[in-house]
Amino acid sequence: MKQDKLEPVTNPEWGQTPYQQVDVARYVSPEHVRLECEHLWPHAWQMACRAEEIPEPGDYFEFEIGDQSLLITRTPAGAIKAFFNACLHRGTQLAKGCGNKVNFTCPFHGWSWSLDGENRHVLDIADFPGLDEEDLRLPQAQVGLWGGFVFVKLTEGGPSLEEYLPPVPEHLAPYNIDEFRIRFWRSTVIKCNWKAALEAFEETYHTLGTHPQIMKGMDDIGVVYENLGIHSRMIVTNAVPSARYRGNVEEQEVLAVSIAGLLDFGLADEAERAALEEMAKTPLAEGQTTRDVFRAMSYDRLSPFMPKLPVDQFLKVYHYTIFPNLAFNLMPGTLLGLFARPNGADPDSCIFDAICLQHPAGQDMPRVEREFITDPDFDWGVVMAQDVSNLERIQKGMHARSMKTTRLASYQEKRIANRAQVIDEYYRRGGESS
Ligand code: FES
Ligand SMILES: [Fe+2]
Repeated sequence: MKQDKLEPVTNPEWGQTPYQQVDVARYVSPEHVRLECEHLWPHAWQMACRAEEIPEPGDYFEFEIGDQSLLITRTPAGAIKAFFNACLHRGTQLAKGCGNKVNFTCPFHGWSWSLDGENRHVLDIADFPGLDEEDLRLPQAQVGLWGGFVFVKLTEGGPSLEEYLPPVPEHLAPYNIDEFRIRFWRSTVIKCNWKAALEAFEETYHTLGTHPQIMKGMDDIGVVYENLGIHSRMIVTNAVPSARYRGNVEEQEVLAVSIAGLLDFGLADEAERAALEEMAKTPLAEGQTTRDVFRAMSYDRLSPFMPKLPVDQFLKVYHYTIFPNLAFNLMPGTLLGLFARPNGADPDSCIFDAICLQHPAGQDMPRVEREFITDPDFDWGVVMAQDVSNLERIQKGMHARSMKTTRLASYQEKRIANRAQVIDEYYRRGGESS
């Protein structure tokens, strides 16, 4: 039996530039919530829902961001529109949650709008002389579609979604994300700032400290980090041990840890779970690696549905962040999304979504509803629970009177520094950044 020994290692990419600092006020101050509501959220393209969540005419989904609410709606012609959720009479919100409507009728005095946003009814219109019909069209946000996601932008003008997203769509085209369907969508409130929640998943530097049990199935040292303009990504190699072990790990252990990792994310049904557990116990053939096993498992099944995806990408996890907060791990056929956005005006809490989308790969995937998790004992899986347990402590620690700035690794945490810089740019331009 070889020894598990962690020794100092390095990566030539590390430390090319000085470490960076980010002011903690961005995470804890109500003033920054106000600045983001004014200069960031209305001007950035944001993911509101999946198109599959509103398939039929009249289906609507309420998307809330900060103090704003939009009704994402499927029109009779099949288009998707995003209406500001406010009655033009005295402002009452027209709908809540999600569902299907023939029109949007205000609960207060009954003014009503079609699914296209045309006014249909004003009670006692004779009492409103001079009211202009044009002025009664329900105001809309901009809508764009990419990868099956519905994006919205609350303000008029550029950039268009097509100008905003590059280079992400080109990178991810071979995955055919638009064909993915929701496997689960779990939302909850976490007591930390939305940026702190996202940033807990934008580096693998925390693996040794937070998730030591996965180190034998994931190389945290060789991770590639890239800022892509306002967006960013990291590329992680799975099914190999951390380089910190310097090769001192038995391949059979890599297999067991890698399979435990797959199971922990709740991606397997009962039959798949049994098969994977069996596989973890089956001795590898002479010279066979975990990567061989994983490649065989996914490539044959999935490559017909994503023929342009290179075979080496079947063994990597691409974690992308589309600015400001659409962040996900992408593997062939599976997208694990980890999104966070502000919870009202509270800097110390966020709405967090943990989602799984999968390619149906020729199978039926039943339509799944979102769940809102309030149970503090909900089983998120071991890795996720480890991350979440850090988050409240991060937020509380950032309030320490002694804590003025964070200190970020020049390479491994460059994505975090990038977000702060891009948000600064939004602040400077009053939202005109692209
Ligand atoms: S506020 Fe909507 S009809 Fe009066
Ligand atoms: Fe983590």
